[in-house]
Amino acid sequence: MSTATTSKIMLLMAFMAAALSSVSMASGLRYNFYNTSCPGAEDKVRSVVQSLISNDATMGAAFVRLFFHDCFVRGCDASILLDPSTSNPNTEKQAIALRGYDAVNKIKAALESICPGVVSCADILAFAARDSTTASGGFTFGMPSGRRDGLVSVFGEVFQHMPSPSSQLGDLLKSFDAKGLDAVDLVALSGAHSFGQTSCNFVKPRLYPADPTMNATFATALRSVCPQQGGGSILVNNNRVSQDPNKLSNAFYQNVASRQVLFTSDQTLTSRNDTAAMVADNAARPIAWMARFTGAMLKMGRIDVLTGANGEVRKVCFATNSGT
Ligand code: HEM
Ligand SMILES: *[C@@H]1O[C@H](CO)[C@@H](O)[C@H](O)[C@H]1NC(C)=O
Ligand SMILES: *[C@@H]1O[C@H](CO)[C@@H](O)[C@H](O)[C@H]1NC(C)=O
Ligand SMILES: *[C@@H]1O[C@H](CO)[C@@H](O)[C@H](O)[C@H]1NC(C)=O
Repeated sequence: MSTATTSKIMLLMAFMAAALSSVSMASGLRYNFYNTSCPGAEDKVRSVVQSLISNDATMGAAFVRLFFHDCFVRGCDASILLDPSTSNPNTEKQAIALRGYDAVNKIKAALESICPGVVSCADILAFAARDSTTASGGFTFGMPSGRRDGLVSVFGEVFQHMPSPSSQLGDLLKSFDAKGLDAVDLVALSGAHSFGQTSCNFVKPRLYPADPTMNATFATALRSVCPQQGGGSILVNNNRVSQDPNKLSNAFYQNVASRQVLFTSDQTLTSRNDTAAMVADNAARPIAWMARFTGAMLKMGRIDVLTGANGEVRKVCFATNSGT
């Protein structure tokens, strides 16, 4: 690594350390929560995540998205992971198809083998998202922990809280504001659409008929992949422009500028001057984007967390300990 890059990354870490001591105090989370109860916890998560990503480079995106969907519905409480049961007959995971549930079970099993019953599934999602950022994005940060797992997961809450890919900027800002996240956070986190995959279903509304805010060349290429009839589950890379579709980077913002992004919710980020300026700055200054992405991930990671004696630490991530 060059000296310039090293010093930029050290600057970033110093900035984050200063910004974040207040974050952890306000939420009841703290850095290194498992330092005595399970000192190897964060290393174990990192090594399993790294091996899952080296076996399948698309997994980083799956972990980052799981964290977003967990935190936006009922807070970061692993409610996204619960399977249906008597007490939770219709759960969040039935509402939107996400990837990575088996992978989360693998991480949990690895932790249970070193410290049974200690590390919550909510913290596993947070650590896995951080470690995916490192593996797929090349930058890292401390992730406060001490989240506990919820007992409740409700299908019907998903669409109340999750923004839609057809949302315009005003609605996106409202749904982020409801979680304590601002326009800077929205724009920074949308950079996660630099990696991972999308099914044609979510793209077709902008292809048939053609959305004039999409680059016409880009739209023609997408129409050849996503047919008008059928093919809704065909996968396309979120980043169809860069060489590596599994790299988390600020390339997203250049794609927004050239109108080569998949969702209305991506393209609408330039519809107001202030957010358009944020897009331009994130495109021009990768290290600044990394700092903003980090800050926003940490803010997201403290949404409505359960701490102390609230909730529980699940034995398995897909069921509550009572199992009913
Ligand atoms: C701003 C509002 C957002 C909307 C409307 C939105 C919508 C979507 C949709 C529709 C997909 C495709 C899903 C599929 O085909 O199964 C997707 C994928 C993805 N989203 Fe978002 N998203 C938003 C914000 C975020 C945020 C904040 C993050 C994380 C920080 C994120 C991370 C991802 C990732 C990584 C993928 C690829 C997942 C994979 O490869 O499986 N998104 N998003
Ligand atoms: C663990 O962290 C707590 C709180 O930060 C600290 O008081 C304690 O000394 C740490 N223990 C070890 C073994 O590092
Ligand atoms: C549309 O995309 C092409 C590459 O496919 C690019 O060269 C062009 O600059 C884009 N157009 C606009 C208006 O950004
Ligand atoms: C937004 O930016 C455009 C182009 O720079 C400018 O003409 C317009 O006055 C700005 N609008 C507002 C509300 O600042």
